[in-house]
Amino acid sequence: MKHWTLAIILLFCIRINASAQTDAQVKSENITTIANLAASELQSDPGNREKWIKLHNILKVFYQDLTVQERQVYRELLTNTVQSSITVATSPEEPGGRISINGHISNLNGEPYRNVLLVISSTDSHGYYTPWDSVTRKLNEPDARIMGFLRTDNRGNFEILTTRPASYPMLDNGRIVPAHIHLQISAPGLPKKRIQALFDDDPALDDYWRPWAAREEYPIMKLEKNEKGVLAWKLNFILKN
Ligand SMILES: [Fe+2]
Repeated sequence: MKHWTLAIILLFCIRINASAQTDAQVKSENITTIANLAASELQSDPGNREKWIKLHNILKVFYQDLTVQERQVYRELLTNTVQSSITVATSPEEPGGRISINGHISNLNGEPYRNVLLVISSTDSHGYYTPWDSVTRKLNEPDARIMGFLRTDNRGNFEILTTRPASYPMLDNGRIVPAHIHLQISAPGLPKKRIQALFDDDPALDDYWRPWAAREEYPIMKLEKNEKGVLAWKLNFILKN
């Protein structure tokens, strides 16, 4: 039986067994089991996009049922287990446009960085990180719903398929914050690096934010339709020691 089939069955079994265990125990076991099954499947077939889509569909089912702490456990499990160089940080039902980022990470000598862990997160197409941000009027960045996990392949390459984020609905010191995708980069032997990828056609990326992006050495993506009709960008990132 395929692991994913097992995962689906597990979802129903856990609900049946809920009477014998506390909700917290059920959810904790659920998260761990699903994450381990997903990791096993992805390790056996790391480039399979369909499996990543299924993973995020399952995550979407869970997301609003879990506590903030449980979602953090799930993120850590995926961060620690991911082997694929491709991540699908969205699902077919997610509102908004799709974008594809084909990335390459190298060092100052142009040599590829393999096995670099990337954790991706962003707002949704309305500018919110979580479903509750619009109610609380606070942006809960660490608990972002749109998220992805990957490791660069042997040539330093990776691919992100996601939803195009929007600017925050709230102003920051009177300014519109440009739409951005957070990338947390962890390379073996180097300090963790956090960058934001911005969008060249974003009206909010004005004369205030462009110099800021240049100072921070954040990439600015110029999206163009690829052969599949998806807006895409080739992101070459040089990782300095
Ligand atoms: Fe952000």
